[in-house]
Amino acid sequence: MIGTGYVGLTTALMLCELNHQVVCIDTDTAKLKQLKSNRIPFHEPGLEELLNRHLSRGSLSFTSDTGQGVRESDILFITVGTPSKSDGSTDLSQIKNVAETIGSNQNGYKVVVNKSTAPVGTCEKVHRWILERQPRKLPVDVVCNPEFLREGKALYDALHPDRVVIGAENGKAARFIRNLYDAISCPKMMTGLRTAELIKYSANAFLAMKISFINEIGRLCDAHGVDVTDVATGIGLDSRIGSRFLKAGIGWGGSCFPKDLASLVHMFEQADLSPRILEAVRQVNDTQVEYYLRQLEERLGDVRGKTISILGIAFKPDTDDIREAPAIKVIQALHKKGAFLKAYDPVVFIHRAPTGLPVTLCSEMSETFEDSDCIFLLTEWKNFLHFDWKSHRHRMRTPLIIDGRNALDQNALTQYGYIYYGIGRVY
Ligand code: UGA
Repeated sequence: MIGTGYVGLTTALMLCELNHQVVCIDTDTAKLKQLKSNRIPFHEPGLEELLNRHLSRGSLSFTSDTGQGVRESDILFITVGTPSKSDGSTDLSQIKNVAETIGSNQNGYKVVVNKSTAPVGTCEKVHRWILERQPRKLPVDVVCNPEFLREGKALYDALHPDRVVIGAENGKAARFIRNLYDAISCPKMMTGLRTAELIKYSANAFLAMKISFINEIGRLCDAHGVDVTDVATGIGLDSRIGSRFLKAGIGWGGSCFPKDLASLVHMFEQADLSPRILEAVRQVNDTQVEYYLRQLEERLGDVRGKTISILGIAFKPDTDDIREAPAIKVIQALHKKGAFLKAYDPVVFIHRAPTGLPVTLCSEMSETFEDSDCIFLLTEWKNFLHFDWKSHRHRMRTPLIIDGRNALDQNALTQYGYIYYGIGRVY
């Protein structure tokens, strides 16, 4: 497993659970040191327990020597970063580096599996980059096996996937990789390399589209006094639509949807096509924070000099990931408008306190109420939902709650004397 980020580590531990022997390779020696001493460098439920189990059983090992890892393995998974460039295209330098190292260290037949999300045509490039570096001509097959796990639920998703997609040009190599997943019962789709690559992007774009769709409907619900959660339930009961990913709120963030949509849009442009739906999906998301701020200002007036408390910084619960988190955009926008900001997050505070953000981090949720003019919930952490809201209302200067995730109990909060706003909620 070359690369020990979310995808690499989770896949490695999933394969160990399926009784395979896995070597994790990473050039970041500080990270390897942490991992070897049973510590996961990010917050992801369940991973540490499995790390302990497989390190002590000897089914998992770590090395920073990529060459040695390549020489000693039959199957090489590429699970490195594929960040966005400023024009939306994907930076493939880490994948290229890995492919070249595989090529120069190849000592026999290898199956190279790309799991990093990368544009259509990348696996073909990987094949070429490997061949260019081989010391002598050796057989190699490249397989595309995209990953569909969610942060916060990574382990569950890896062990209980809805499907496994395996793209390859060589049927034998494809079957070899499919066999790795024998113990997992789910549909296994065998397809071509380019198809597998596009399935990954299309899946993420479709999910983002569902969210932007319900967020747009949420705005109309506000205008007509209709409850968007009822609309979502009503349409979701149609099995052709499905109820998941229809939770209206502040919008999607994270390390995947924004980057993958940018990359997909770039692929359209490269093909001289206009991605009209995708542009609209992004536009709704890009204007959602603004929409919420208008709702806030309608209730509070000018925010200059007011104290706004942010609940939740992570882009979603059960992770400490703040990449493209709506909370960051909200904090920056409110700061620009002259508000004072406090924030609390159960794990971002401990693990990855964001530096340079114009916000005072609280060490407890209850501190966010003190002399605050508004509490703005941006991550639906469970402990926020089960908090004793009743006893803390009097500590706020203005008891206004903006629920950016439609997660709180609106009726109870209103009874306690709060002014509540959630998108498309009837009040
Ligand atoms: C997403 C996909 O769900 C995974 O299948 C995929 O493997 C992953 O990207 C990836 O490409 O690596 P992830 O970004 O971890 O997973 O998180 P999601 O659970 O998809 O949530 C994404 C964003 O949408 C979050 O900000 C979340 O709060 C928001 N969201 C989600 C909503 O606003 N409403 C919903 O109904 C669902």
